[in-house]
Amino acid sequence: MRVLSGIQPTGRFHWGNYFGAIQQYIALQNNEQSFYFIADLHALTSVRDRKVLEQNTWDAAIDLLALGLNPEQATLFRQSDVPEVTELMWLLMTVTQFSLLEKCHSYKDKVAKGISPDAGLFTYPVLMAADILLYDSDVVPVGADQIQHLEVTRDIAQRFNSIYGGEFLHLPNARVLEEGAKVPGTDGEKMSKSYGNTIEIFEADKPLRKKIMSIKTDSTPMEAPKNPDTCSVYALFKLFASAEQQSALADRYRAGGMGYGEAKQAVFDAAMSYFSQARTRRTELAANPGYVEEVLQAGAQKARAKGQEVLQRVRDACGVGRHRSV
Ligand code: ADP
Ligand code: TRP
Repeated sequence: MRVLSGIQPTGRFHWGNYFGAIQQYIALQNNEQSFYFIADLHALTSVRDRKVLEQNTWDAAIDLLALGLNPEQATLFRQSDVPEVTELMWLLMTVTQFSLLEKCHSYKDKVAKGISPDAGLFTYPVLMAADILLYDSDVVPVGADQIQHLEVTRDIAQRFNSIYGGEFLHLPNARVLEEGAKVPGTDGEKMSKSYGNTIEIFEADKPLRKKIMSIKTDSTPMEAPKNPDTCSVYALFKLFASAEQQSALADRYRAGGMGYGEAKQAVFDAAMSYFSQARTRRTELAANPGYVEEVLQAGAQKARAKGQEVLQRVRDACGVGRHRSV
């Protein structure tokens, strides 16, 4: 069973990315068929600075490895290191209905926000379909916002198969990442780069503490009892703490006499301890770029071998390339 997912290098990973996606990818890596890639070609639809994209992609690789993605088990690669994906994208594009792409929420939302769309933004889901179909993927773990793109992928694959009369493309299934993991940001809304409310996993101690101290809370006075269940500081604490630690802090909320500053300090301490091993590992990896690049190259080689096999099948199905009788 092939598990595959991609993550865009549009900035440094935050707690929402970790608990909503990365942690779950890592839990699924215990399968030698897991493929994870850094979607640098997709990021081009929003990052238009060479240095920034290069750095983001590099940081994404180091972060994923530091957080526990094990290259002995999973295959980690840069999307752009497998050029077969863009050829497959074209072949798929020729069977993709314009109207199918026009229905995509992610595209419509961006247009509604006033972004003037280019062809890259419009055809983004076809590149995503190529990412998935190129490796005969079975299971694609994604956030709820990506389910429609999985449906588009299945639609495109079905249409290709029906036009060319065969099971050339393997239909994947989405595996929706746990909704329970919706991580709140410093303003209490869903943590997201687009809201400017993120807390980055590998933020340095001082700015990390500052961000945590800036989390919005209500104005309940220090002495008064507080409700942990409506407080984003407590929601964040829960991500890092054991069941006993959670109920101990909840009791203190309800008893009154504890200020939010103290709860925030508890979040800082818990997060530092939770990611302490990953931080050490990150420092080691950053000092060893040769190793990181080796992992990415080995990953790309493995992914390409599978990708070339599938691409050949698709080329043959539609009759492009060398005449088969020669
Ligand atoms: P952002 O919203 O910061 O741009 P992305 O859209 O790049 O983040 O998210 C990448 C992955 O991280 C997605 O699979 C998404 O499900 C997950 N994710 C992002 N933010 C959160 C959050 N606040 N809670 C849970 N999961 C999240
Ligand atoms: N579009 C996905 C996101 O923004 C990232 C992505 C690109 C992806 N290609 C993929 C996810 C293929 C799963 C499979 O989160």
